[in-house]
Amino acid sequence: MDQGRTPLLDAIVEFGNGEPAYFRIPGHRFEQGVSPRLRAAFGDGVFRCDLSEAEGLDDLHQAEGVIREAQELAAELWGAREAFFLVNGTTCGNEAMVLSTARQGERVMVPRNAHKSILMGLIMSGAEPCYVMPQYYEEWNLWGSVDPEEIRKEFNRGGDGCKAVFVVSPTYYGVCSDLRKIGNICHEHGAVLCVDEAHGSHLYFSDLLPEGALQQGVDLCSQSIHKTAGSLTQSSLLQIGSDRVDRDWVAANLQMVQSTSPSYVLMASLDAARQELALHGGEMMEKALELADGARRELKRIPGIQVLDREVASKIKIHQLDPLRLVFSARELGIGGYRMQELLYEQDVVSTELADEENVVCVITFANTMQDINRLIGAVKRISEQKEFHGKPLKPVEWTFSLPDKALNPREAYFHKKVTVNWADAAGMVAGEMIVPYPPGIPLIYPGELISREIWQQVEDCRRRGLSIHGPADRSMNTIQIIV
Ligand SMILES: Cc1ncc(COP(=O)(O)O)c(C=O)c1O
Repeated sequence: MDQGRTPLLDAIVEFGNGEPAYFRIPGHRFEQGVSPRLRAAFGDGVFRCDLSEAEGLDDLHQAEGVIREAQELAAELWGAREAFFLVNGTTCGNEAMVLSTARQGERVMVPRNAHKSILMGLIMSGAEPCYVMPQYYEEWNLWGSVDPEEIRKEFNRGGDGCKAVFVVSPTYYGVCSDLRKIGNICHEHGAVLCVDEAHGSHLYFSDLLPEGALQQGVDLCSQSIHKTAGSLTQSSLLQIGSDRVDRDWVAANLQMVQSTSPSYVLMASLDAARQELALHGGEMMEKALELADGARRELKRIPGIQVLDREVASKIKIHQLDPLRLVFSARELGIGGYRMQELLYEQDVVSTELADEENVVCVITFANTMQDINRLIGAVKRISEQKEFHGKPLKPVEWTFSLPDKALNPREAYFHKKVTVNWADAAGMVAGEMIVPYPPGIPLIYPGELISREIWQQVEDCRRRGLSIHGPADRSMNTIQIIV
């Protein structure tokens, strides 16, 4: 196919050039009906492209024209059998992956570091998850790759009959799993491998990056093109990698989780990002890699700063690392990740993607500049020299995660009657809410699981350390909903 084409974007522009008398939705009629303040902030172009299923513009839910062609171009570029545009992010892609591979009561395997959209998919489908723990890298307080042997063990433990395995790779920190091996194990046991590749759609465009999920033969994957590959926020792709997946069932499930008024602005941005990657992806990744390598080199020279690089990764047995995630820590200076993130912004207006108790994470893309990198390095250097910010070296955080006993599956738990009790009394009860300490974002408890005395104590330890606990409606966690 001609990857230089942008069929959807071209059709949108051509439609606007025809100066139509417009009686469709959306009601703002190009820029004419938009608030002057919004026009001043956005410019007019975006409103000209904010259209619906007008003449020549196809229909996402029954794509036969320009959207279909744009999706086919995407599938070809990433090496998939079929690609679907998503306008509700990888969140809805993950939900559709669960719905498309496991029905009510069917077993699936889910690593405990799965994104919450996988849980939402489990609630919708009624599938029965069994959980596996990803590897934990104590020194960096990082959760990461899923060991293929853990998946094999779970199959051997009686996981036969399991329909699908869900793996997130790369993680937010750029940690990649050995998807080829995991896929082979899944296929030996008649299961499909579904990958949350929200952070990895750029991996396909340089041999210096780890291989992408589709290159490793996975069956389904969802990718946030908006995170690392240049499209607008919320625009993602769901990609089918093999004939083990029923494409009509995937298409039907996407109708469950996507709007019937998908944004043409978002879809056009997918079309255009795909064209850029097709024409210039190699150079784009080369530039990003050069910036990231330079940043790592300079950061490592700053006294007290540790950088997660390939050398460290091989020492702590991370399968592979995406070099475009810059993960660093000032733990030896006694500066935690949250504080470092604040200082970088307060002092030098350097805005970083993520922080945890120890680390800061920057996403480096082709759109960054040497000036951005110099600002980051300069800011970290200044902080490292300002003794007033320093403290005692941080001790690695010790995590003791144990998998709780399950009383109900996520769907049963979600719809079950719940009452609110004091957290102090909750040991021995069945949780009605998730309990997720951030970081590391690994749920200690899913709804429907038993809050054993041991797990109750683990949650208490997290609270005492001041970690933010996500999940319970009562953010103070003085109370919690339990299932009765
Ligand atoms: C691992 C992972 N999966 C899925 C998602 C959801 O992706 P999106 O923001 O495209 O809906 C995120 C969002 O940060 C994520 O980190």
